[in-house]
Parts: sequence; structure tokens; C-alpha cells
Amino acid sequence: MRVVILENAEQVSSRAADIFCDLIGETPDAVLGLATGGTPLGTYRELVTRYRGGKVRFADVTTFNLDEYVGLPPEHSQSYRTFMRTHLFDQADFSDRRCHLPDGTLGDYQRACEDYERQIDNAGGIDLQILGIGTDGHIAFNEPGSSLASRTRIKALTEQTRSDNARFFDSLDAVPRLAITMGVGTILDAEHVVLLATGSSKAAAVQSFIEGPVTAQVPASALQLHQRVTVLLDQAAASRLVRQDYYRYVESIQAEIEATHQTDRPSEV
Ligand code: F6R
Repeated sequence: MRVVILENAEQVSSRAADIFCDLIGETPDAVLGLATGGTPLGTYRELVTRYRGGKVRFADVTTFNLDEYVGLPPEHSQSYRTFMRTHLFDQADFSDRRCHLPDGTLGDYQRACEDYERQIDNAGGIDLQILGIGTDGHIAFNEPGSSLASRTRIKALTEQTRSDNARFFDSLDAVPRLAITMGVGTILDAEHVVLLATGSSKAAAVQSFIEGPVTAQVPASALQLHQRVTVLLDQAAASRLVRQDYYRYVESIQAEIEATHQTDRPSEV
């Protein structure tokens, strides 16, 4: 796991946008795994700015979002499809038919979940998956206790997640109780996973998933089992990490580490 501690949230967004743009520059038809929530908003803004400046285009990429609330039609103001259209898809040249989100309104959820997994497979798998992290350690909507081998399925949201997300709704009661979400196993299949965390409210979850044991009680800790994970943190989110000095030291000699690699694949810690 490569842990990169940056000055502030703007730097986190800009570094994440660099990772996206480098991949799309090399592979214009890359398959991107996308997240919603407050954390990736700065990255999406930066990608839109770079698109408008002619530095990147998205016409050939395929995207798969992590999750969607059950019961909210795609056009609902708080659906994750609306979120993605507002903040990214409609702001650039994404192809509508290649932008996928789970459908939270189909009656046959088992089939919808299996179809979503199949669509990801048919696209050749996810090249780059961006993640946020919940204050309870969730990734996508894999709440504590989720199987670390789980695939796309329905999950019940914890009260903590519902109250964290209530800020986007008129009231806590309006926040759906269920979501359709990629599983931890689905996420672990991505080629490169980039987790972003900013702000002190994430500091405890960040410390647990990076430095604690691998446990279903902290679903993000499963990322310790993945070969290529980059964690981009601001100072506040990194503040509880015990090995901060080591992570900073490794970044300070990154050029030296990369020079030892035969390929251009970034090094891992
Ligand atoms: C969103 C998602 C969630 C969020 C997490 C953090 O698609 O899968 O896991 O990444 O809840 O949310 P924010 O960024 O709003 O703090």
C-alpha cells in the first residue's frame, strides 16, 4: 500500500486527477470505477477543468459506479446517477451508454446484481477504482461485517452511514435504508485502487484500515490484501497514523525507488 500524505484536500484532488489522466492518456478506453459522496467532488471538478482545457477526453472510457440507493429512481435528485451526471458525466464528453450504475429500482435485485458483475467482466474488469471511506470504515456500501469476498449485492446501511449522508437529504427519514453495492471482492479485482480521505472525521477509520488488522469489522482493511493500492490523504485524515514519518520518508525517496523498477508501473510500499 502506498500512503501519500499531502498538504490539503486540493492537493489530494489534483493528485487523484493526475492518476486518472495518466491512465486515460495511455489507455483512452480505460474502465474506471467511480464513487460518489463529498470526497471525490474536488477530483471530478479538476477532471472537468482539465477536459475543458483540452488536456483529457473521456469519450472512450467506460465507467462503473460503486453503488446506488435502493428505491430511488435514476432521475431522483439524490440518486447517485443524478450525482454523477451533475458533477461529472454531463460536464464532459462521457458516453451515456458506457456509464454504468447499479439500478436500485429493479424488483429482481439478485439478477440486477449478477448482471452488474457480468457487465464489469464483459468490459474487461476495472482498471482504476476510486474510493472514499466511511467514518465506520466502509468502502462502497460494504458496512462493517461485510464479507471480504462479497460481490455486488444489497446491503442495509448502518445508522452511522445514514446520518452521515442525511446532509444530502431533507431529513434522516428520507435517507434510504438499503443500497445495491459492489462487494469487497468486486473492488479487490480492480487493477489499481485509489482511496481518498480528507478531514479529521476520517482519521480514525484511516488509521484502522491502514495500520490495524484485516477484519470484516473495517471493510477497507481488505485493501491490505491488494497488490496495488494508493491512499491519498490530507494532513487531517492522516493525523492518527502511527507510521506517518515512514510514509513521508518513502514518498521523499520515491524517485529513487521508481528508478529501481524495470517497468513504468509505480512502486508499492
Ligand atoms: C459512495 C461510496 C461511499 C463513500 C463514503 C464516504 O459511492 O461508496 O463509500 O465513499 O461513504 O463518503 P464521503 O465522501 O461523502 O465522506
